[in-house]
Amino acid sequence: MSTAQNTIIEIKNLNKRYGYGDAESYALKNFDLTVKRGEFIMIMGPSGCGKTTLLNIIGLLDKATSGSYFLSDQPVERISRRKQARLRALKIGFIFQNFNLIPSLPVIENVALPLIYSGYSQTRRLIQASDTLKRFHLNEREYYMPWQLSGGQQQRVAIARSLVSNPEIILADEPTGNLDSRSSRIVMEELRNIHQEGNTIIMVTHNPELTTYATRVINMLDGHIDTDIKTVADADLPQPVSIRFVKPTIIVPEPKEKTTTKTSKSTKTEPKAQKDASPSTPKKSKSKLKKSKTEKPKTEKSKKSTKTTKKGNK
Ligand SMILES: Nc1ncnc2c1ncn2[C@@H]1O[C@H](COP(=O)(O)OP(=O)(O)OP(=O)(O)O)[C@@H](O)[C@H]1O
Ligand SMILES: [Mg+2]
Repeated sequence: MSTAQNTIIEIKNLNKRYGYGDAESYALKNFDLTVKRGEFIMIMGPSGCGKTTLLNIIGLLDKATSGSYFLSDQPVERISRRKQARLRALKIGFIFQNFNLIPSLPVIENVALPLIYSGYSQTRRLIQASDTLKRFHLNEREYYMPWQLSGGQQQRVAIARSLVSNPEIILADEPTGNLDSRSSRIVMEELRNIHQEGNTIIMVTHNPELTTYATRVINMLDGHIDTDIKTVADADLPQPVSIRFVKPTIIVPEPKEKTTTKTSKSTKTEPKAQKDASPSTPKKSKSKLKKSKTEKPKTEKSKKSTKTTKKGNK
């Protein structure tokens, strides 16, 4: 039971075919993969072996030709496109080699983009994006345009964007491929922290040195797994993040207590004590969000003025 609960991705006999007849080729061939919550998987292999294809299928950006794929126990191929988009927005964060930030949008709006499916108001989306940027110490650059940032900063913005919706899985396709070694290290340390918080990360890389960050290293060859080595036992993986999505149960004290103890100070402290006893959410963002409700977001006008003043600060 517990093993099944810890499985977040289950892929069986997956094929991805391109072309027909003489032009037919398989990017993935009879591919099997089971991913546990809390794994940090690095996928390596020669160019063209199917790494990006695999990541795109896992991330519901692409569809397999045949085979089965269960994401959090849901059979992906039987879900409508609309539901897939929702599932993707809720569960998956993407980081790409070329950052993929929208050049015409300021940093904060780029980071808020994945929340479009969340049903939150624009103000709330911006507050959540701002909170996430704070975590990466990029809040001072909220109203910079992407081109005003270094490559490393752009990738950290992209990481913030991938995390803004509190996804369970982060998919990263050569996230350090365009970065110098110092920025690479910073990005990898960020990913390590994100993993330590219990997120599942699947990352493609050509750099064998980075595999030290992984709990499992998969080498692909011609559309299949060539070698698959776990460096950390399943039992030692960081705790799953799924509890982030469960609201802690706060037991409301019996109304009786209030009426019977007129002068009682203890009744006042009771709800707090109950709250403290409730399970805590490991990630800050939700509690932070509540707190931020009282903080007034910047108005459109003030945003614009910040943007223009910062432009000159590059
Ligand atoms: N849209 C497409 N049409 C036809 N063939 C494709 C398409 N996309 C990918 N392929 C083929 O699928 C195979 C796997 O491509 P994929 O991009 O997954 O490789 P990769 O392992 O990510 O390579 P790299 O390390 O260079 O990024 C390649 O042979 C590629 O030519
Ligand atoms: Mg690729």
